[in-house]
Amino acid sequence: MEIMLHNLTVTRSRFSSALYFKKCSQINFTKFYSKTVRLHPKFCSRQKLKPTLGLQHGLRIDFVKIPIRWNSGGSGNTESRRQKLLLATYVSFGIGGILILAITGREINKARLRFHGIVEVDDSAWKRVKLYKYKDVSIPGHVVKILDNIENFQVREDDIWVVSYPRSGTTWTQEIVYLIKSGLNFEAANSQIIDDRFPFLEFMYPGIQNVGSMSSPRLIKTHLPLGLLPKEIHEKKPKIIYVCRNPKDIVVSYYYFTRMMKPVTRFKGSFDDFFRLFMQDKVPYSPWWKHVLEFWQKKDEENVLFLKYEDLKKDLEGSIRQIADFLDKPLSNLDVKKIAYHCQFENMKKNDSTNFSWGTKLGILDLTESQFMRKGEVGDWRSHFNQDNNEQINKMISFRFHNSGLRFDYDIKDPVLDSSPSDVRTVV
Ligand code: A3P
Repeated sequence: MEIMLHNLTVTRSRFSSALYFKKCSQINFTKFYSKTVRLHPKFCSRQKLKPTLGLQHGLRIDFVKIPIRWNSGGSGNTESRRQKLLLATYVSFGIGGILILAITGREINKARLRFHGIVEVDDSAWKRVKLYKYKDVSIPGHVVKILDNIENFQVREDDIWVVSYPRSGTTWTQEIVYLIKSGLNFEAANSQIIDDRFPFLEFMYPGIQNVGSMSSPRLIKTHLPLGLLPKEIHEKKPKIIYVCRNPKDIVVSYYYFTRMMKPVTRFKGSFDDFFRLFMQDKVPYSPWWKHVLEFWQKKDEENVLFLKYEDLKKDLEGSIRQIADFLDKPLSNLDVKKIAYHCQFENMKKNDSTNFSWGTKLGILDLTESQFMRKGEVGDWRSHFNQDNNEQINKMISFRFHNSGLRFDYDIKDPVLDSSPSDVRTVV
């Protein structure tokens, strides 16, 4: 049964009944005046509305289009204003309380992080990504959350780690290592994404726990610098392949990568903006020079192989042999050629298992900005750098590396041309 009450005058007592009604019927207050609502039996009995309005439990009142007129007369208006004021006060207290809680929570979190030596990097260029400094290294927020897990990650002697600063040729090196270790399993290399075959330790997918429980021998990628690697890496001494690249091409490649990650980074800056961030060590995993220098100083240790992107470009087959020997898996000439062919830039760019095209499906990559496999060249910096960029990097290099013996190639003069004879193409 339903009764329609048109032009109902809501009296003071009805108003308070209305508030109570709202409470016990659990309906949205704003809808109260404009929607057909079902009375809660408790309300009917408590407010004794039955005799007054002739309502029964379960009756429905339609308040649609009812102009709410408060009782005429001074006291009614005052009361209604008082009620409104009270309501407004409650609402503002509520909002204020929520804000205070949020701000306090954030400050407590900052203080907790500071206590652990982690400080937020403040730069307006990073709209969305939160960057932190820990042990002088810039790390993204998702890594901060798992620092303990990283430090205590159980390393195995038969692990193989590929370590690098971002955009140094990590994926390229991983693919070579994977093919050598898997006994040239091209089928898997073409069908399983590289993050499943050779996971990224500190990335959300597949997650550090899953990497930890993988069966041996594990292949692990990380961009963490030496000082942030798991403690056990120094005792267990797994094989580590470190790959570095000249910083001029890195900064260009990293700039496009950051733009490509726009759905995540919200980075809208120019190349010059990004260059400044790179030089100020305000991009993830920076400072670049320290990342490289620390591993360069370890290059003679038995379990470390130090590679340069430019050497892979100059002589891919020679580099594949070098990696295979380091992994104690010497290869035949034909196997080397097959791997080199599979790992040519154009082939890896086409391969959906290595080109990170799956990032678009996850909504984290915007391929209209750039591609993960972008150009794959040495010397692209020449079409991006102005004189000032070049001088700044040159100064940084001579300051940081002058005594190290490490030199970088900024151009390739005599690359060993890719040899991809037809027999290789048909076999692979
Ligand atoms: P560019 O942006 O200069 O093209 P990382 O894997 O460490 O993120 O490095 C990505 C860079 O390595 C990109 O550089 C990418 O194109 C390049 N790269 C990946 N595979 C390559 C290959 N097979 N040959 C040459 N460069 C490759």
